[in-house]
Amino acid sequence: MARFYAACTLGLEAVLAEELRALGAGAVAERRGGASFEGDLALGYAACLWLRSAVRVQQELARGQVHGREDLYQLAASVDWSVSITHLQTLAIDGAVRDSFANDTRFPVLVVKDAICDQFRDHTGQRPSVERDRPDLPLKLVLQGSEAILYRDFGGPPLHKRGYREIQHKSPLNEATAAGLLLRTGWDRKAPLCDPLCGSATFLIEAAFLATDRAPGLGRSFAFERWRDVDLDAWRRLYDDAEARAMRGAAQLPVLCGNDRHPGAMAIAAQAIEAAGFGGRIDLQRSDAADYQPPTRPGMVVTNPPYGERLQPDAGSAAASWHALGNFLHRQCAGAEAWVLCGEPLLSRELGLRSFAKVPVWNGPIECRWLGYRIDG
Ligand SMILES: C[S@@+](CC[C@H](N)C(=O)[O-])C[C@H]1O[C@@H](n2cnc3c(N)ncnc32)[C@H](O)[C@@H]1O
Repeated sequence: MARFYAACTLGLEAVLAEELRALGAGAVAERRGGASFEGDLALGYAACLWLRSAVRVQQELARGQVHGREDLYQLAASVDWSVSITHLQTLAIDGAVRDSFANDTRFPVLVVKDAICDQFRDHTGQRPSVERDRPDLPLKLVLQGSEAILYRDFGGPPLHKRGYREIQHKSPLNEATAAGLLLRTGWDRKAPLCDPLCGSATFLIEAAFLATDRAPGLGRSFAFERWRDVDLDAWRRLYDDAEARAMRGAAQLPVLCGNDRHPGAMAIAAQAIEAAGFGGRIDLQRSDAADYQPPTRPGMVVTNPPYGERLQPDAGSAAASWHALGNFLHRQCAGAEAWVLCGEPLLSRELGLRSFAKVPVWNGPIECRWLGYRIDG
């Protein structure tokens, strides 16, 4: 039985915990910015493949009290590193330090690296090298007070990198955040779903994945696939099952539609939709939200309008965007539920609606609210 930690956007911990329980994880406990859980290694693989709201899945390898270099070295030396990689492979160590014996991450990270390399040198005469880009064994050291935890990162590149996006919109929503927000709405995966300010179509693509039962991790690789203790049979079974589910689910795509006034955003959205495998199956239009006419009356609206931070020069135009969104909701969405990500409380007044839900959630460094509205039918 292994102990894991999955990280997510602040505010989406309950959504992540729910996803973990649905995967069969044991001892699921919400933490700030993530959830801990227990299971076998195959559960770690399934978590990378299936979790929509997680950005990382890490397995705890060692935990202990450390008061200085020697304690930390001994803790790192207590792990048998040859279980994960050979001396011919590569590793990288990320650190996070708070109130510990070290002021920053550089020294403790170096201590851990030395302990690992010394262990390999003692056994093989050679040591693995450090590689920042795509290391075989990405490690994370967390030092908090006198407690140290060492994790190995199952995913490698963050899990929100689904593998379909080549070009970024200027203010895209992280895919894992978009998926978590979508799950939080309770959308039934069947009602027509619309994003009237869709930018690069992150919500629409995550909605398509969700509705068609497509695992968000299909089509990308993970660090654990290169480890010595990987159970390739178990991984193959999980992957084949996810492929079969995606094939079966492909026909279940509901009406998904999006709109944006920016031609560049539209081009990126169309390209991303094509690369994600839904080319021609999601309706895209280019107009001002105030004039937008979706192909079907939406049952669910999810969107992330611009908010600009307070006192920013373009705050006026952000208000105009919210006003246009309000027009769209009143004109085209009778009977629908709408969820709007808001980073500036004053802007939401432009909608002329009263929210029934206000979920605190962070979009990068900005504290936001995921606002739920019911539009009168
Ligand atoms: C924060 S971005 C949305 C990002 C998107 N969620 C993504 O992941 O790429 C806001 C979008 O609203 C669009 N927008 C702003 N005002 C608009 C309006 N009045 N009508 C249509 N689109 C508008 C912008 O062009 C921009 O793409």
